[in-house]
Amino acid sequence: MGVAIIGCGAIGSYLARSLDKGIIEDLEVKVLYDKILERARSLSSSLSCRPRIAETLQDVTCSEDVSLVIEAASQEAVRSYALEILESGKSLMIMSVGALADPDLFRRLKKMAETKGVRLYIPSGAIAGLDAVKAAGMAGISRVTLTSRKPLRVFEGNPYIKSKGIDLSRLEEPIVVYEGSASEACRLFPFSINVAATLSLASIGPERVRVRIIADPRAQGNIHEVVVEGDFGRLECRTINKPTPENPKTSFLAALSALATLKKAVDKVHIGT
Ligand SMILES: NC(=O)c1ccc[n+]([C@@H]2O[C@H](COP(=O)([O-])OP(=O)(O)OC[C@H]3O[C@@H](n4cnc5c(N)ncnc54)[C@H](O)[C@@H]3O)[C@@H](O)[C@H]2O)c1
Repeated sequence: MGVAIIGCGAIGSYLARSLDKGIIEDLEVKVLYDKILERARSLSSSLSCRPRIAETLQDVTCSEDVSLVIEAASQEAVRSYALEILESGKSLMIMSVGALADPDLFRRLKKMAETKGVRLYIPSGAIAGLDAVKAAGMAGISRVTLTSRKPLRVFEGNPYIKSKGIDLSRLEEPIVVYEGSASEACRLFPFSINVAATLSLASIGPERVRVRIIADPRAQGNIHEVVVEGDFGRLECRTINKPTPENPKTSFLAALSALATLKKAVDKVHIGT
């Protein structure tokens, strides 16, 4: 199956290199696209499969040898490209899941995927426990909370932190910088709380999932704690992530989760929920 990757940063590059090594049989990177063209060029030249460089989205959607597009770029990329990609008859994997906290966008993408008979993949990302959350949802979930503890560098340049007058440079102890719905969290922290959207889509929706974000001067990577209550009982799940070397905001597990989702897409045997 031919693959196109949109976004040649930490996740996109990791996926491209892994597929280039043949980690997943039957998947080959055919096209790379990045709004910074040079990133796509230099990634392509480092790969033995030498994918073509797309200069526009249409170069991706018109590629007949591509049947799956991987978005690893930004929420804005999802809003601008996702519908057109599905409309062109290609399956799509979305990493910037925060964009899907907008229920209208999610509904439109779902409908387009159904109309075109293609798939929309949303990997678990940097949290564990979604297998049990999905199973629990078959009966009924009453409460979901996500507590994310993050290193200070993750908040650099965040307008919400600035507007609250929070000075992280002097922080010695962890502080709660946000508490509210997953929906609002994804708007205020567009680069760093995608897991809240994924957890919401797998459970009770972005308005009802509660999110607490903690800035922790001692955290080395993102630590996510998920608590779910429902007819099944109670789930408590903690993931202590290491960041990717290329992007300290991005957990390595997010890239691995994307790779595992690709493998599941081609495997005939599925283990786990
Ligand atoms: N689902 C998860 O759990 C999870 C975890 C970590 C990161 N993410 C998200 O995945 C995405 C990629 O993460 P990353 O660490 O690789 O980011 P990155 O910043 O390292 O790379 C993103 C790349 O995409 C390109 N890009 C951005 N907007 C674009 C657009 N509109 N068109 C074309 N190219 C565009 C950038 O130029 C950059 O090269 C981000 O949105 C990030 O928030 C999701």
